[in-house]
Amino acid sequence: VSSDPADLLVIFGITGDLAHKMTYRALYRLERRGLLDCPIIGVAADELSEGELAESARAAIAAGGETIEESVFGRLAKRLTYLHGDVTDAEVYRRLAKKIGRNHRPLFYLEMPPALFGPIVERLDEAGLLAQATVAVEKPFGHDLASARDLNARLRKVLREDQLLRVDHFLGKEPVIELEYLRFANLALAKIWDRDSVAAIQITMAEDFGVQDRGAFYDPVGALRDVVQNHLLQVLALVTMEPPSGPGADDLRDKKAELLKAVRAADPKRCVRGQYEGYTDIPGVAKGSSTETFIALRLEIDNWRWAGVPIFLRAGKELPERLTEVRLLLRHTPPLTFLPSAAQVEQNQIVLRIDPDPGLRLQLAGRNDHSWRSLHLDDRFAQDLGEPAEPYERLLHAALTGDHQLFAREDGVEETWRIVQPLLDEPPKVHSYKRRSWGPAAASRLLRGHPRWQEPWDVEKS
Ligand code: BG6
Repeated sequence: VSSDPADLLVIFGITGDLAHKMTYRALYRLERRGLLDCPIIGVAADELSEGELAESARAAIAAGGETIEESVFGRLAKRLTYLHGDVTDAEVYRRLAKKIGRNHRPLFYLEMPPALFGPIVERLDEAGLLAQATVAVEKPFGHDLASARDLNARLRKVLREDQLLRVDHFLGKEPVIELEYLRFANLALAKIWDRDSVAAIQITMAEDFGVQDRGAFYDPVGALRDVVQNHLLQVLALVTMEPPSGPGADDLRDKKAELLKAVRAADPKRCVRGQYEGYTDIPGVAKGSSTETFIALRLEIDNWRWAGVPIFLRAGKELPERLTEVRLLLRHTPPLTFLPSAAQVEQNQIVLRIDPDPGLRLQLAGRNDHSWRSLHLDDRFAQDLGEPAEPYERLLHAALTGDHQLFAREDGVEETWRIVQPLLDEPPKVHSYKRRSWGPAAASRLLRGHPRWQEPWDVEKS
């Protein structure tokens, strides 16, 4: 069930990194498409005039690669006002209340460190600003299971669950949203999407760059918390859940939560951690740090659809290319008695490419002389859909219009922390790996007895 649209957007942390890299640009794109129709108040500690704020918005939008159309930018700048102050100070909220005036359905978007989520919503509550508000919070949502539970409990003292939006930008990606359609609108896929046909699932998120200037942020976090607990487990839930029973936000989120509950807690013996050479020289990284920049793990889902099908996840920085994909490896057919050689035909595969250049590949086998060859049926979504909305653009629009389907819910988030918690309690030793390699060799041994990690689908060649 979606709630009423917001009539005001308040962004806490408007001078921060996320606003600079993502938010302004998303707002500009929404403005250009005519999808923005409320005032925006930015809040931050810096002393800035509204003119200076507009200039930093312009710089951020241009840096994001947009060509600025003055009429569009002018409309956006007109919506934008600024309030400076220390967000832990109650006085700021009195000024904010005055500024908000008669708008009574604000969306408060907290682009702030999570330690401030609690204090900010409590001050908003004291100032009487939460009655019909929605609050969106950025990741990380907690540092482990206990802190995620504490944070949920603290926020839920002053907010109902349907007032709280947990942002995970992967849920705003076109191919991730596409999953529900692909799986359930196509009998050809739906009929083979289970343990009878699927031998293994592999999900890879590879990045061909390192931690760069984010050492101080990344070192206490690592790959497991940075992208597996949130992005990859959200994707896994969409890949393996049952079909939602209705169109409401909770119909989908019920199925995701139900699936995540069935995922067995990760086993540290089935996990490999890696760190690329040179990581500890990055400013902000602790000397001798054992933080992982690569992780591969095996999960199991204890339900009727997936029992016994191994799920392999891997994510890493400084790998050979940037690529996020989901791959289902189907079981082998019975032996091809009509082939003269004993050559085993490669199993069929279904590949959903999330980044870059989203698309779907069906890998089949065809004839090649007296043997076989791989046949690839590929669809690149951009060819049929044109340029899709970007994740933050889509998520901001959904938040403003009261559509909660694309946001993570409390129960699902707690389940994802439960799944990864054993790896935080007993982290396996960290192996070093060469930059631009596919991580430590141990990541391949993790797959022993199952189909090896597959070569990524090479778009250039397709
Ligand atoms: C972020 C992580 O959440 O996702 C980054 O903090 C990572 O470390 C990024 O690089 C990847 O997002 P995308 O959309 O570029 O794949």
